[in-house]
Amino acid sequence: MNRLAWFLIFALAAPGVLASGGEGGLMLSAHNDVGNISSLQRGARNFVNYCLGCHSAKFVRYNRVARDLGITESDLAENLMWTAEKPHETMQVAMPAADSTRWFGRVPPDMSLIARSRGVDWLYTYLKSFYVDEGATFGSNNIVLPGLTMPNVLWQLEGTKEAIVEETVDHDGNKHDTIVGFRALTAGTMSEEEFDHFVTDLVNFLDYMGEPMQLKRQSLGIRVIAYLLVFFLLALALKKEFWKDVH
Ligand code: HEC
Repeated sequence: MNRLAWFLIFALAAPGVLASGGEGGLMLSAHNDVGNISSLQRGARNFVNYCLGCHSAKFVRYNRVARDLGITESDLAENLMWTAEKPHETMQVAMPAADSTRWFGRVPPDMSLIARSRGVDWLYTYLKSFYVDEGATFGSNNIVLPGLTMPNVLWQLEGTKEAIVEETVDHDGNKHDTIVGFRALTAGTMSEEEFDHFVTDLVNFLDYMGEPMQLKRQSLGIRVIAYLLVFFLLALALKKEFWKDVH
């Protein structure tokens, strides 16, 4: 999405965005597709490279991911499995809990079910809503999770942006600072479009982790419909056979 579109979205959504801390404000759409296996493979790679350092996914086993996403054992060991020794282990976090509590004041939440609790659109919006804020603990803030203690870990890819703040007056005459858009400060290694795809793939993988059966359910659904179709044709032929002498 280009900068102008971003600006317009936040300009239109502005009154709701800050007033409600983002909840209920306008959300961007993730447009992810859990049936897209190559997107899930890229998402898995993005997750282990950029998130697993702090966030576990302790209900998810490496070998299940490999099986579901068609990743070979050697690819798994080489590219994904760096917090485990054996493929049947779960996705544990690299950082000891004591360290993360010291650094961030809390243990970063487990990501296994995050797509179910937050929803994919929230996650997509969240990952695209970090902005520079000198007063914040790690120098950045987020529109949908204001005052957060997660650093902006994707800044090298996306580049940095600052919030455009305007003073608005509500119905009761109270003044508020409202974020109405973003302004790019430094460029990242990715173009905006590439970064959008990166985030979509990542959210897609989070979505899959929240309910791995989704993949099976879709292919099962197609098989069930195919079966019903064949059965319908058989029943039709049978009906014709039964009735042909009656007419
Ligand atoms: C350097 C450590 C670190 C890394 C790396 C990291 N996070 Fe976080 N994350 C945190 C911390 C700490 C919090 C808690 C923030 C808070 O509640 O103030 C958090 C919070 C979150 C939340 C909000 C959870 C909720 O429901 O409140 C999401 C979603 C999230 N992280 C996703 C990600 C994703 C996706 C990545 C990879 C791109 C990632 N994080 C990388 C430290 C990290």
